[in-house]
Amino acid sequence: MSLNHLLQRADCAYTARFGGEPLWHAAAPGRVNLIGEHTDYNGGFVFPMAIERYTVIAAGPRAGGKKAAVWTDTFDEEAEFELARKEPPAEKVDWRSYVAGTIGCVLEKGLAADPFNAVIVSDVPLGGGLSSSASLEVGVATLLEAVSGTAIDPVEKALLCQKAEHEYAFMPCGIMDQFISAMAAEGHAMQLDCRSFERKNVPLSDPRIAVLVTNSNVKHTLSGSEYPQRRADCAKAAELLGVRLLRETAVPALEDSRAKFDALDDGERIYRRARHFLTEEERVARFAQALAAGDWQAAGEAMYEGHRSLKEDYEVTCPETDALVEIAERIGAGGGVYGSRMTGGGFGGCTVSLIEAGKAESIAEQIRTAYRKATGIEPAIFVTRAAAGARIL
Ligand code: GLA
Repeated sequence: MSLNHLLQRADCAYTARFGGEPLWHAAAPGRVNLIGEHTDYNGGFVFPMAIERYTVIAAGPRAGGKKAAVWTDTFDEEAEFELARKEPPAEKVDWRSYVAGTIGCVLEKGLAADPFNAVIVSDVPLGGGLSSSASLEVGVATLLEAVSGTAIDPVEKALLCQKAEHEYAFMPCGIMDQFISAMAAEGHAMQLDCRSFERKNVPLSDPRIAVLVTNSNVKHTLSGSEYPQRRADCAKAAELLGVRLLRETAVPALEDSRAKFDALDDGERIYRRARHFLTEEERVARFAQALAAGDWQAAGEAMYEGHRSLKEDYEVTCPETDALVEIAERIGAGGGVYGSRMTGGGFGGCTVSLIEAGKAESIAEQIRTAYRKATGIEPAIFVTRAAAGARIL
C-alpha cells in the first residue's frame, strides 16, 4: 500500500470514529537493515534504510479533559492516554505500551500537547523484524510535534522513543530502529556509528539494483528472552577484554585473550558472540566500500558472510531464515541475487537481499516456490526503495 492509500484510510477511519476531518498527520517508516546486525548496542556500525511501509497517524483536537483517545486499525481497539502526567507502564505489553510510553517520554521532556483524538493505520508487518514498534513510537512522537507545534531535535526524538521501548515494552533495544525511522533520507541507506551517532547518507538509487525483503512469516517466541541474553553476553565479553564497549577492541585482542574466555564455563559462547560483533564491524566497512564502488557482488558476499556469522556465532537465525538465504544463494549472481541475509533481531522475521532490479519478479517467484516447498509456509515478498524518515504531512 502506498503512503497516499494509508493516508486515505486514516482519514476515513478518523471521520468514521470521531467525526469531522483530522487536522494533523504524521508518518514514520519501518526499516530493513542491510548489514551490521546486533552491533548497535555494542557501539558499532549499522547500515539500515527506511522502507516504503509506514505507520500513519491522523489526529484532531478533542474537547475537554487532558487525554488523548487513540484507535488502531491493526487491532480495531481504542484506548485513552494521559497527557497530564507520565503513566506508569502496564505489566502486559501491547500496542498501548508503545503509545503510552512515547507520549510519557515526550511529554516528560517538556512538550505540552492539548487533548486529541487519533487513528493509527500501518502496513509495517507486526513482528516481522521490520521495526513496526519503532515506526509506531516515532510516528507518535512526530504527531506530538505536530499537535504541540514544537519540533524535537531528531536525535533526541529517536532517543526518547528508544527510552519508551525500554521502559514500557521492557525491550532493551539499541538505537538503530528509532534512528533510521526518524532520520532516513529518501534514496539513501544510513551508515550510522552507534557510538558517536555520526551518520552518513549513502546513495542507494542505482535503478539496476533493488532491495528485496522476504518475510519468513515465522516469529519464534525465543526472541523476547534471547535479545537481552545476547546483550549480556556482549557486556561480559567487553568486561573480559577490559573495555567499556566491544567497539573499543578488535579481533587480534580477542584472540590474544582467548584463555580468559576458555577459563569460563560459558566462555566459548561468549567468545563467539564477541567474534560475531568484531567480524561484523569489518563486514560493514567492506559492504560500504563495495557499495560506493558499485561492486554488488562484493557487497553481497559480505551479506552472506554476515548471515553465517549470525547463524553460527551469534545464533539468532532459525531454520526458516536460513532456508531463505540458502535459496537466494542457490539462485546466485547468475540469477540476479548478489547477497542475502537475515535482518533485524532474528529468530524469524525477514531476510534482505540485494538483487538485480530487472529480475525481481522471477527471483521472488523462485524464492516463494522453493520456500513453500522447504517449509510449507507462504512467505511475503516485496521490493522496496529507500524511503524518507518520519515527517508531518
Ligand atoms: C532489534 C533492535 C535493534 C538492533 C537489532 C539487531 O531490531 O531493536 O536495536 O539491536 O535488533 O541488529
